[in-house]
Amino acid sequence: MNQLATPLASQTGIPANKADLIAEIGRLRREKNAVILAHYYQKPELQDLADFVGDSLELSRKAAQTDADVIAFCGVKFMAEVAKILSPQKTVILPDMEAGCSLEDSCPPDKFRAFRAAHPDHIALTYINCSTEVKALSDIIVTSSSAETILAQIPRDQKIIFGPDRHLGGYLSRKFDREMLLWPGVCIVHEAFSETELLKLKAQHPGAPIAAHPECPPAIVDHADYVGSTSGILNFAKAMPGSTLIVATEPHIIHQMQLAMPDKLFIGAPGADGNCNCNICPYMALNTLEKLYVSLRDLSPRIEIEEGLRLDAKRSLDRMLEMASATVGKGDLGAKG
Ligand code: 13P
Ligand code: SF4
Repeated sequence: MNQLATPLASQTGIPANKADLIAEIGRLRREKNAVILAHYYQKPELQDLADFVGDSLELSRKAAQTDADVIAFCGVKFMAEVAKILSPQKTVILPDMEAGCSLEDSCPPDKFRAFRAAHPDHIALTYINCSTEVKALSDIIVTSSSAETILAQIPRDQKIIFGPDRHLGGYLSRKFDREMLLWPGVCIVHEAFSETELLKLKAQHPGAPIAAHPECPPAIVDHADYVGSTSGILNFAKAMPGSTLIVATEPHIIHQMQLAMPDKLFIGAPGADGNCNCNICPYMALNTLEKLYVSLRDLSPRIEIEEGLRLDAKRSLDRMLEMASATVGKGDLGAKG
């Protein structure tokens, strides 16, 4: 048979046909005893074959609990690093090691260390979207779904540095009426939503509520009926009485909404150009079926973290996991206060 005629015989060994590629990923998953975890911002085909799709907190918990030998993480690097920190005995692979995060990039560990040293009476409450080094320099990690519960447990007279997302920090600060020193980082994806275009869209769908991620700037959050993590937004979509929702977060989450609620209409909030293509996370988009296949086949690229650093970072993550389980607060940012 002509070698090129069979999709499994391409030069790279990557099946050229999508159905074969998915079947091969399934075979490798069984052969390597791997679990595939995916964030809601991943391409639909990656979400569809994952064993579990979730927000940052849920994915951290899954990574800590799984009995698989290999965790294939369809998300960004800091998420895969969290999996390795919590499950060091497992092989953790990330389909594309370049899948970073603008929030992580905004917060170099040496500058964060100096900032902390300049404010010795503050604790560092740090968003999970940061490097392992910054986690190691922090006291407590939060995700957008655990931040409120955790902040509610910190005495009001305790001074706080919040980094690296100034919008999430600002939102919490306003909601809790609590001053915090904010690191000036932003998510380039949520920063790209346009208030003007959002209001035009709202005028076209007057009854539709707006759900926004707290990484959005205040000009967007101020128009939202619900503010919360990706899983919080998904739950809001399920509970809302209406049939149309404007979604101000990375638009790939709409895939899960459409699967769960095929009769409802979900509209991605627009950027300045009037559509939402600029709101696709360029880092998340680096992961593909082909790269997932190669990473499972070769068990590479894999996350490695020096043991001392891992243990230092684990302290602040363990604090999050303990405090996030407490019954204080609502467990997600929820309706605006
Ligand atoms: P959550 O899924 O925890 O809401 O986080 C959103 C995000 O930006 C991940 O990078
Ligand atoms: Fe980072 Fe924003 Fe992409 Fe999330 S959506 S990974 S915060 S750049």
